[in-house]
Amino acid sequence: MHKSPDSNIVNLNATETNNGKRRPTPASNKNEKAPANQFDLVELGCTISGKVILQNINISLKPHGISAIMGFNGAGKSMLLKLIHGIATPTNGHVRWNQQVPTREHRLNQAMVFQKPVLLRRSVKANIDFVIKQRKHRDPLNRNALLAMVGLVDKATQAARLLSGGEQQRLALARALACKPSVLFLDEATASLDSASAAIIEDIVERESRAGTKIIMVTHDAAQAARLSDEVIFMHGGTVVEHSNSQSFFTTPSSAPAKAYLEGRLYNPNR
Ligand SMILES: Nc1ncnc2c1ncn2[C@@H]1O[C@H](COP(=O)(O)OP(=O)(O)O)[C@@H](O)[C@H]1O
Ligand SMILES: [Mg+2]
Repeated sequence: MHKSPDSNIVNLNATETNNGKRRPTPASNKNEKAPANQFDLVELGCTISGKVILQNINISLKPHGISAIMGFNGAGKSMLLKLIHGIATPTNGHVRWNQQVPTREHRLNQAMVFQKPVLLRRSVKANIDFVIKQRKHRDPLNRNALLAMVGLVDKATQAARLLSGGEQQRLALARALACKPSVLFLDEATASLDSASAAIIEDIVERESRAGTKIIMVTHDAAQAARLSDEVIFMHGGTVVEHSNSQSFFTTPSSAPAKAYLEGRLYNPNR
């Protein structure tokens, strides 16, 4: 195991020490030897109480690396993430994971971290033990190693709700990783954190990706998506308006809403 020099965090998966540098191009992060996680979204749509929330989504995600879902508020990013993870049901079309429509059991190999961590009113370590027990995983990660990975060894016996926001989110991430998911979903997981906590989470996500976990993340932070992602799915008005390699997305976005977003402008189709 390696220690990160600028934090007290132990790296479970890294093959090299983290020197604090970001990788030069996101695509170099892919672990092509890891099992593929092929997600195909077919005619995906969702209408609730007569309101169309998502429609006409037909894309296949890259089977490795980090996919970032971006877009203005209300574009449908969270709903799309929930449909891919299977915690919301589409009213149109379907999601295939490795050529199958996933069952509840398949989905035990996926985990999600939300913007607001959902923790039990128990100790830090009990929060991890609970998930490991509940998922009945045969070979979970060791609890103390997980706490070391997220820098919470000293807080193991403390009540989870007394942790700071950044610490709570790190615990939520440790819990999500406890049962070695093949796919990790993150919905604005660093949005309400200070930059130091966000950087710690980014480092762990990056390492997980390098170790072969497929990451699908919603972020409104363009710099974060540029640092981490291999591809961007840009949503507007409940549909995907652009799906590109990150490098081309951030240098030459092709859709007007994405251009406006990256320039920090509101999108007005009449201008
Ligand atoms: N359960 C729901 N019932 C009704 N409308 C919803 C529901 N969930 C989301 N919406 C609406 O769908 C749109 C997209 O929501 P969401 O996916 O949360 O957007 P984003 O994450 O991009 O900000 C919003 O207008 C939101 O109000
Ligand atoms: Mg959202």
